Amino acid sequence: MHNTEESNTKQQPQTTSAIQVKKHLKVTEINYRRNKESNYTEKITELEQNFDYGSHKDHYWSDPELSILYGTPLYEVASPSQKIALNHLFWVGGYNLTAASETNTVLYNQITGSVFYSIGGYETLCHELDVETSQERYHIHAFRTVANMTEIAVLGDVITGNPLTGSAFKAMQGGMIGRLSPGVMRHLFSFSWGSTPFLASQYYALRFIANMILKLTEHSRSQYFRDLEKKNEFIPAPAAISHYHFLDESFHTTTSQVIAQDLYKDFPRPTAYERFMANLAIYMMQLTILNGLSAAAVASFYPDKLFVMPLVYKMLRSPLFGMSTQEALSWIEKCFCHEHEGLHLNLKYHQQLFSSLCQFFDKLDYTWSINREMRVMAAGTSISKTIQDNTKFFDKFSKSVACI
Ligand SMILES: [Fe+2]
Ligand SMILES: [Fe+2]
Repeated sequence: MHNTEESNTKQQPQTTSAIQVKKHLKVTEINYRRNKESNYTEKITELEQNFDYGSHKDHYWSDPELSILYGTPLYEVASPSQKIALNHLFWVGGYNLTAASETNTVLYNQITGSVFYSIGGYETLCHELDVETSQERYHIHAFRTVANMTEIAVLGDVITGNPLTGSAFKAMQGGMIGRLSPGVMRHLFSFSWGSTPFLASQYYALRFIANMILKLTEHSRSQYFRDLEKKNEFIPAPAAISHYHFLDESFHTTTSQVIAQDLYKDFPRPTAYERFMANLAIYMMQLTILNGLSAAAVASFYPDKLFVMPLVYKMLRSPLFGMSTQEALSWIEKCFCHEHEGLHLNLKYHQQLFSSLCQFFDKLDYTWSINREMRVMAAGTSISKTIQDNTKFFDKFSKSVACI
């Protein structure tokens, strides 16, 4: 039985929530209108359709520090044309991962959108989610087209798409949310995000993390575009695609933020189960994609053994570097298992992301302190631990490669 005091405390958040409703509905309204009026997606598609690698191959597509192996001993001795190729391959690797993540987004936008639609009163938000879903499909297509054409031209084959996997289904698991957890648990998350309004909103806290990771590099790519434009210089198509994608994604980031920080307060306070699932998802996200520091790719924070090291090996064995197995392994050891400038640079990217995520999670009132303070992410940032882990994996990796 409820007593009067309990009912009063329950009444209290309703008033605050009424104000929140107005505020976030307004933000969503403006965001939706601006997104509908923009033509960035159309520009991306146009750039994709006219793309041929030959016309863009002699130019950097971003600042040089956004290049695979930047800051490593191998980068120092690479030729000018190899350096440009490493810059292009970083674009390819990053946007293949973005395409995989956006494949997840397409699915979860629809799952969560149907929860908001069924409650009623969130029609504009649902329309915005539909627009975003459609934009992601065009983004994915453009990224894959440019990435595949570039890889075939630079490496003679498509290897960065999924260095460890092959099928489209696996590509989906490769996205940021897809890396969240092993199969069964991921299905549980998918189910829960479609089950209650609170959990549907909470998905957007994870989507916000993915938005912020992309912004780490895309903001500088967009700045690179603006600088070239100002100087009236040639703008490589992939740099322009990044710029327009950055602009499209700024609408999506607003949506993630509004839902994750404000909209959830419209709904009943989370039950113990909802709180647990929400926190488990954030914790798993920290553990799987934010728990490391890549030695060869800035703004990448999952262990090198899962993605970057096998990819670099294939690049060194390709016609771009033309190395023997032994040469390739010896360079991998130098670049992944010793301290160098690239690791220190990546640490700066890590700190930037860490502080923006702490600011974001501090505003959510249901988080465990391990999530509010991003403690798993903080613990994963150690150059010495990265070197230790990479050395351990390198032993296994070199043996497996030598057997082929
Ligand atoms: Fe996108
Ligand atoms: Fe997006």
